[in-house]
Amino acid sequence: MRILFLTRSFNGLAQRLYLELTALGHEVSVELDIADAVTIEAVALYRPDLVIAPFLKRAIPEAVWRDTVCLVVHPGIVGDRGPSALDWAIVDGERAWGVTVLQAEAELDAGPVWASEPFAMREATKSSLYRREVTEAAARAVTRAVQRFAATGPCPPPIDTRGARGRWRAPMQQADRRIDWERDAAATVVRKIRAADGAPGVLDRLFGVPCRLFDAHAERQAPDAPPGCVVGRREGAVLRATVDGAVWIGHVRREDRGDAFKLPTAVAFEDQVASLPERSIEVDAPADPCGWREIRYEAAGGVGYLSFDFYNGAMSTAQCERLKAALRLALARPERVLVLFGGTDFWSNGIHLNVIEAAESPADESWRNIIAIDDLTQALIEATDCLVVAAMQGNAGAGGAFMALAADQVWARHGVILNPHYKNMGNLYGSEYWTYLLPRRLRAGGPGAVMEHRLPVPASRAAELGLVDAVFGDTAQEFVATVRERATALAARSDLPALLDAKRLQRGRDEAAKPLAAYREEELARMRRNFYGFDPSYHIARSNFVRRVAPSWTPRHLAIHRRGGG
Ligand code: COA
Repeated sequence: MRILFLTRSFNGLAQRLYLELTALGHEVSVELDIADAVTIEAVALYRPDLVIAPFLKRAIPEAVWRDTVCLVVHPGIVGDRGPSALDWAIVDGERAWGVTVLQAEAELDAGPVWASEPFAMREATKSSLYRREVTEAAARAVTRAVQRFAATGPCPPPIDTRGARGRWRAPMQQADRRIDWERDAAATVVRKIRAADGAPGVLDRLFGVPCRLFDAHAERQAPDAPPGCVVGRREGAVLRATVDGAVWIGHVRREDRGDAFKLPTAVAFEDQVASLPERSIEVDAPADPCGWREIRYEAAGGVGYLSFDFYNGAMSTAQCERLKAALRLALARPERVLVLFGGTDFWSNGIHLNVIEAAESPADESWRNIIAIDDLTQALIEATDCLVVAAMQGNAGAGGAFMALAADQVWARHGVILNPHYKNMGNLYGSEYWTYLLPRRLRAGGPGAVMEHRLPVPASRAAELGLVDAVFGDTAQEFVATVRERATALAARSDLPALLDAKRLQRGRDEAAKPLAAYREEELARMRRNFYGFDPSYHIARSNFVRRVAPSWTPRHLAIHRRGGG
């Protein structure tokens, strides 16, 4: 079938559905929801059998849904209606939730139901639930709806929705999200912020400045301070007392600056945070009772596990440097297998574009950040006394996807999506030693095919290409459990010393053929042009990206129907 995606952005969920449906042999073209007239034009150009709306914030024009079946993905259970479905589900403490695929009609979210899939809720941000549970359930529900459409045409036998407990919920307002620091317990504060994370955040004040709060984590040890007081800092976050304990606030968006975007709290309030007492803990301190931190190391069964759960997978200069220090610690330990777990939602998305954008000189900060991530990648490549495994529970993009290739083994959960290219960010050339790491892994074809592709690659396809060595685990829990089993077995192999000898020999041979320093120099020469040259594409793309500026047209590589001058 010819399927047109109508979507606000080609986000992770849209990417996943795109990959699922194209793998089933359907042709999918994408039109970003820009204006009704543009949508109507896209439908006229493509004449799709079916329109699917993975992520929309506006109604589909009647001129479209009158003539073509339009299926809308709603992140709610059957009967649930309204634009704040997940927000309410989190605040209400729902334990089970779902995704419903319904047909667009005049009334929002009220059309016939084509498919619905349940999922168990998890203590996590709205974005995290969306990226994991909603995306998995939507992949199943949309596939089923499309199968029904293929089998029965536009008028399938209706699904019985009697007894559904969902109902219309008004858009959640800031008044509904408001934190009452004099009353709300830490768990309530965290839940309120999570229900608004990634957007729109919870409107509050910090250091007397109005701002939106994101990235909250409960702290187990209660400080001796009145509720609402900011009492300390750790990494980029601040600790704020509640009536019963405290919460870490990792990211904020200042409201006193017209053009503000989300930043680590310590960057947004540099002076205020610098004067707070530091409450640092070691990366290898036990999780209980020491609590939240971005980088964590633990060892078990002869294996070291290094997690780096950076918000949105973005890695600033400071974060790369901290991670490199943690890596040094891990490599100095006796464990000879090291698993890099990355973060729960993203393995890594490369350099931190928001922190770069906020710098006095974004070009200089881009340079510092790329040097820091290259140093980290180099340390991984040169870790020849250890077998390194990159274990991807979540997606990886741009430099993050290439950094993973520095590991000896790359394992990914089913459903993980890689975006192993840089070009979508204003034609960045990219570094992270990709010119060394990519060709040595590819099974067929040259690196150009990967770098120019500009489209997401599912883990299964990445395995065919050679970018990934193993794909397993339908859920994150299953994946993590299997990683631990496999890594423990690897550490117990009697030929582990021989494997490490082979690794050292190969590294020596590669270094003799062309030193790492030469790859780095060549890549950085191109990056220097991206950062400091006359073409401002990267700076413009980054500025639009961090400010979430809606695109004014659909990129040609997504819109099949607009190729050829249409
Ligand atoms: N720096 C800062 N923030 C980043 C980021 C980065 N490198 N990569 C992703 N994010 C943030 C996004 O701004 C967004 O923030 P939000 O919480 O305010 O919504 C969030 O992570 C999710 O990203 P989004 O683009 O909505 O996710 P996606 O699944 O649709 O797409 C990517 C994933 C990786 C394709 C896309 O985020 C991307 O292109 N990132 C930039 C990668 C890059 O160019 N890195 C620099 C070169 S190494």
